[in-house]
Amino acid sequence: ASYDLLLLPGDGIGPEVMAEVGRVIEWLDRNSGSTFETETDLVGGSAYDAHAVAITDAAMDKAQAADAVLFGAVGGPKWDSVPYEVRPEAGLLRLRKDMDLFANLRPAICYPALADASSLKRDVVEGLDILILRELTGGVYFGEPKEIVTLENGEKRAVDTQLYTTHEIERIARVAFELARTRNNKVTSMEKRNVMRSGVLWNQVVTAVHKAEYSDVELEHMLADAGGMQLVRWPKQFDVIVTDNLFGDMLSDVAAMLTGSLGMLPSASLGAPDEKTGKRKALYEPVHGSAPDIAGKRLANPIAMIASLGMALRYSCDMGEAADLVDGAIADVLAGGTRTADLAAKGQNAVSTTEMGEAIVRAMDAR
Ligand code: NAI
Ligand code: MG
Repeated sequence: ASYDLLLLPGDGIGPEVMAEVGRVIEWLDRNSGSTFETETDLVGGSAYDAHAVAITDAAMDKAQAADAVLFGAVGGPKWDSVPYEVRPEAGLLRLRKDMDLFANLRPAICYPALADASSLKRDVVEGLDILILRELTGGVYFGEPKEIVTLENGEKRAVDTQLYTTHEIERIARVAFELARTRNNKVTSMEKRNVMRSGVLWNQVVTAVHKAEYSDVELEHMLADAGGMQLVRWPKQFDVIVTDNLFGDMLSDVAAMLTGSLGMLPSASLGAPDEKTGKRKALYEPVHGSAPDIAGKRLANPIAMIASLGMALRYSCDMGEAADLVDGAIADVLAGGTRTADLAAKGQNAVSTTEMGEAIVRAMDAR
């Protein structure tokens, strides 16, 4: 098959890590049996410099039409004082909103070679492979009213509103169960039904979707605070964790620390399936930002960006074997001791961004 990929490198280290993704795509184009059409466009500060917007309408159209969007990172001190509506982050926010990317996938994988970099003990994290699925477009970050009002007595009152509809919970639950079927067939749903009405509805709807469509998958419910505790006590008990926007924001950051460096963490954001083709709109990006402190120094670790391409192969291109190959090559390279500066121990030699990308492609060749 042939796939259209839109590359949006962005700012800072974004273009540096995207160049290494380009290397992996070229290898796949030659060797995988599938071909790729790639197009590159501007986003963030670099789009602002050229067009005075954080992403152009033309780039948005390309993103909507692509099989997958690969996004580097945006922002940096150069654009700290540009107008709010066109600040670099506005490019990413528009992509998420216009493509209705409601499902945010954050894998937490601990490569054995890096288990000592985790905040937890080696036996707790070694071989860890779980997926946190965060609802991204609803909940308390978006619910109205959202305001600070001054009361008659002069005191102020802040209001945020946690809001979820049946539809919003159903569609994220379906993504969770479908992902679990491709993994270890278990979903843990986390909410706070003991104190929140949204938690009651969340629990009911997830249970109903499970009963009606996915009873082959194991489903477990956990209160989100207890879930946070379990995540650091024994994370390997989980497979897919599905939770709302706020809890997912916190729990995915906790899970990130189980696995070591920020330079290792990929993510995916998926939309609803197309009515005709069943394909989901999708954007793949590293969890890290544009790292202005190391930009231009060839220090950036490209693994999070390359692993994001791996997720695109798996979820947007129907290329699970190629995704396994990319993930396996990353594991091989780490097992062989190759480290970028963020991963290297004191006194250990570190390789450049490019050298890491080349090593991963060589490891793909060798598999
Ligand atoms: P950051 O993730 O860019 O950097 C945090 C620290 O991690 C820095 O010391 C950086 O050098 C290091 N780091 C990050 N990625 C790395 C990699 N691949 N290899 C090696 N080291 C890496 O977060 P920070 O410093 O808070 O933000 C910097 C800029 O990035 C800001 O303008 C911020 O707004 C933007 N940002 C953009 C995001 C996005 O595009 N999705 C997400 C987070 C921040
Ligand atoms: Mg966060």
